Amino acid sequence: MSSNPPHFQAIVRQRYSRRDMLQVLGAAGLAAGLGCTSKDKKVPSQPATVPAVKVDEGFVEVSHGADDHHHVPPGYQAAVLIGWGDSLTDGTATGDLAAMTPEEQSVRFGTNCDYTAFMPLPPKNGLQRGLLCVNHEFSDAGKMFRGVPAGRRTSKDVVTKLQVEGELAAHGHSIVELQQTPQGWQIVPGPYTRRISALKTLFEITGPAAGHARMKTPEDPEGKTIKSTVGNCSGGVTPWGTVLIAEENFNYYFGGDPAGLPQEQHLRRYNVNGRAGIGAWRFFDRFDVTKVANEPNRFGWMVEYKPTDPNYQPKKRTALGRFCHEGATLCLTKSGHAVAYMGDDSYFEYLYRFVSDKPAIDNPNVLDEGTLSVARFDANGTLSWLPLRFGEGPLTPQNGFESQADVVIETRRAADLLGATPMDRPEGIAIHPTSGRVYVSLTKNTRREASQTDAVHARAQDAHGQILEIIPSAHDAHDEESMGWDILIAAGDPSRHANTKYGKGLTREGWLANPDNLAFDPSGHLWISTDGALGSTGTSDGLWCCETLGDGRAVSKRFLRVPKGAECTGASFTPDGKTLFVSVQHPGAYKSASYDEPSSRWPDHKSDRPSRSAVLVITKENGGVIGT
Ligand code: FEO
Ligand code: CA
Ligand code: CA
Ligand code: CA
Repeated sequence: MSSNPPHFQAIVRQRYSRRDMLQVLGAAGLAAGLGCTSKDKKVPSQPATVPAVKVDEGFVEVSHGADDHHHVPPGYQAAVLIGWGDSLTDGTATGDLAAMTPEEQSVRFGTNCDYTAFMPLPPKNGLQRGLLCVNHEFSDAGKMFRGVPAGRRTSKDVVTKLQVEGELAAHGHSIVELQQTPQGWQIVPGPYTRRISALKTLFEITGPAAGHARMKTPEDPEGKTIKSTVGNCSGGVTPWGTVLIAEENFNYYFGGDPAGLPQEQHLRRYNVNGRAGIGAWRFFDRFDVTKVANEPNRFGWMVEYKPTDPNYQPKKRTALGRFCHEGATLCLTKSGHAVAYMGDDSYFEYLYRFVSDKPAIDNPNVLDEGTLSVARFDANGTLSWLPLRFGEGPLTPQNGFESQADVVIETRRAADLLGATPMDRPEGIAIHPTSGRVYVSLTKNTRREASQTDAVHARAQDAHGQILEIIPSAHDAHDEESMGWDILIAAGDPSRHANTKYGKGLTREGWLANPDNLAFDPSGHLWISTDGALGSTGTSDGLWCCETLGDGRAVSKRFLRVPKGAECTGASFTPDGKTLFVSVQHPGAYKSASYDEPSSRWPDHKSDRPSRSAVLVITKENGGVIGT
């Protein structure tokens, strides 16, 4: 890695906006000084000593429970900002959701919102403005259209082509402009307001797999462009002001039986087993693997786009690997190189890291060249990052790898061969703004047998999950080959579940289960959203806050409860920490339901409105900082 230019901080300050600087400072810890990032640094066998921070979450915890409403602590207010089918320019609802055409859906807020990112714009009349960037992860035809039976996501013969197009249009991403007013946040029209969708948006393929034979299809003989992004779960904000969108469960989009195909083993390694979750394969050849076996290779990537440039063509960055990407959490090393931590959210899959070859500054395509590595955790508290480099170790022609394109297209098999640690579904990742420690949610793994337990995954059939702590030797030493690791929280209800781990002082409401997305607020509190607690513990999902350092370390406190059946996702904050956005995804999904007979009426609670996923905007009634 190149040495650090002495004036790097000054260059960064000139180059990036204040918000970007906050991102840079927050993620890479530049504010805390220029620490060492050398790769030969000694790995701490124990967590390094770090200064304590004040424990100041001053809210009264929300109680456990389950109903069709959302709940915040006294003194807080939570309003529905925008939900499925609403206008992107003023937030108004559409009359009949089931009657939306694909064209209408292509310009309205999509369904099943997940990741959110608030990207500040220059204030107007002293009031904050910004873009809210939101993912739309999946569709459920039974809950979108009248007459489609519940639980018919496979849509074998019921859903029409027009409806499938509506489903694809409801996927992707929304960018809405927000303006703070004396009455609260309002959605306003703006030059950046737009949708990215699976139906219409054309993506460029970049990095090692671009143009490779395995990326070529009849619709794209060059292997360099693709229409569609799917499974857009979580994401990430880069220090240079772009947003990353993950492609997670892309296997659900492919029909056709792979049995007997030359690519069968490769397809099955990605669970492309001919069990499509939506009916696209019935109408579009490219989603049928018996017709276009290369098409799945064009999904499972991280997508980068620029919120403030509607003309920027979104790019699938193949150097970041191909798997069921939950999201990506980025920072810079001391020398300004970009680092992305990423989880493959499937049972027994892996945790990955990408380190760019070039510094991020002045390199808009910095995510196209670098080293992708996979994590191996050892019982002595060491995490080793194993590089996935063509030609090294087992990643050679003898094992079917002819180039780095093969390595990234078959990231999972490459990681298998390197001996990476199979994990319990790594999901959310967040980096502490000053300590630089990296926190990783492992949501659960009920399939892990006792014989498969290891130092990280000590509980067999773990239904409740845990949060790992990864410890670089310095706050910005994110390019080290080895790091330390610990377990911050082993989740579950301590009064009912075995081998939980929390800090001292946990209250009756403080325990959590099935951690998913993680975020640090500007003050350095960790916010933990959950997905699956209702099924595993009987309490609805929500959002918890805890410290990672000092006396309050690992003492989680419940801040939000979402409606029964919903998961809580995508927490993000304004830079002043006074506004919190969260997505409430799939309310009512605790039992089979349809558009006509929903299991939830959240958020409208009207007899003619179905349940809808929506974004909540949460503020303190006195205008103060959230959580304090
Ligand atoms: Fe879409 Fe891993 O959550
Ligand atoms: Ca989700
Ligand atoms: Ca998730
Ligand atoms: Ca999840």
